[in-house]
Amino acid sequence: MDLKRSIESVKKSFLADVEKFPTDPQEQELLRVRYFGRKGEIASLFQQLKDADPSDRPKFGQQLNSLRDELSNAFKEISGADDIDDQADEDQRIDYSLPGFNFSTGSIHPLHQILKEIKDIFISIGFSVAYGPEIDDDYHNFQALNIPKHHPARDMQDTFFVDDNTVLRTHTSNVQIHLMENQNPPLRYIVPGRVYRNEAISFKSYCLFHQVEGLYVDKNVSFPDLKGTLELFVKRCFGDDVKMRFRPSFFPFTEPSAEMDIWSESRGEWLEILGCGMVDPEVFTNVGYDPKIWHGYAFGMGIERIAMLKYGIDDIRLFYQGDLRFLEQF
Ligand code: DAH
Repeated sequence: MDLKRSIESVKKSFLADVEKFPTDPQEQELLRVRYFGRKGEIASLFQQLKDADPSDRPKFGQQLNSLRDELSNAFKEISGADDIDDQADEDQRIDYSLPGFNFSTGSIHPLHQILKEIKDIFISIGFSVAYGPEIDDDYHNFQALNIPKHHPARDMQDTFFVDDNTVLRTHTSNVQIHLMENQNPPLRYIVPGRVYRNEAISFKSYCLFHQVEGLYVDKNVSFPDLKGTLELFVKRCFGDDVKMRFRPSFFPFTEPSAEMDIWSESRGEWLEILGCGMVDPEVFTNVGYDPKIWHGYAFGMGIERIAMLKYGIDDIRLFYQGDLRFLEQF
């Protein structure tokens, strides 16, 4: 059949169908697909156009276009539809050669990662993990740790007071007191947690940060035990090549006291990561331990500091901004 006759016959049958236009929407849809679907009558006429004599194509092309307009206008009018194209088919056409969508998975916050590492290291050498209150009384945060009211050592810590006698803890050392009040020696704990200080916010200090406290109490504990434990910790955490040093220092709750520094290659300077020392006999007396029998060491490390050194992060505020461009790197 030539194209001219095909066009006429499609038009004729369409007009006949429209004459007895069905009321049932499903039948209307069948009709729409029959003529305007992707494999419908009109589409197949366009298909046939390809085989027509090249000199006839412009003419038939025009006829086909106006046939399509005429029929679709007629169909729209009688059915009330706005659109008679095969939408569903279009939407379902999938290009399998396109790259897929990546699912974005969350990552574990760098502070959590480092905390897990620290816990694993200390657990592997016999420490248990304990937690204590972030809001505490003056006694546990200061006095029991040998920091009396008006003691100059309180200047080292800008404190957030909840009321005269209650503070947001300025360090995790308060948990040393809670642990020893509630248990008899020997004991061996690490205590991770959040601490608060009213400091000017900058690249190196924030109003809250995290510490891990350590407390080891037994009969024959000496400074070399403390040193050995911390050296082992630092090597496991930063690798055997890490450069570290102990510096004498002062804390009211330890005697003697020291601080530990790690060499930062990227900054070309020593960075303090923790304070430590032998538990002051006065602290033992405060919790009812006999300092003639029991000895112990304690330490407190800054988690942000350690994470910054380990991952080469130069601004502490990045930990708290929730910026995905930062977090996704871990
Ligand atoms: N609490 C101290 C601070 O926040 C750190 C510290 C130093 C903890 C010596 C200790 C310690 O347990 O023995 O700066």
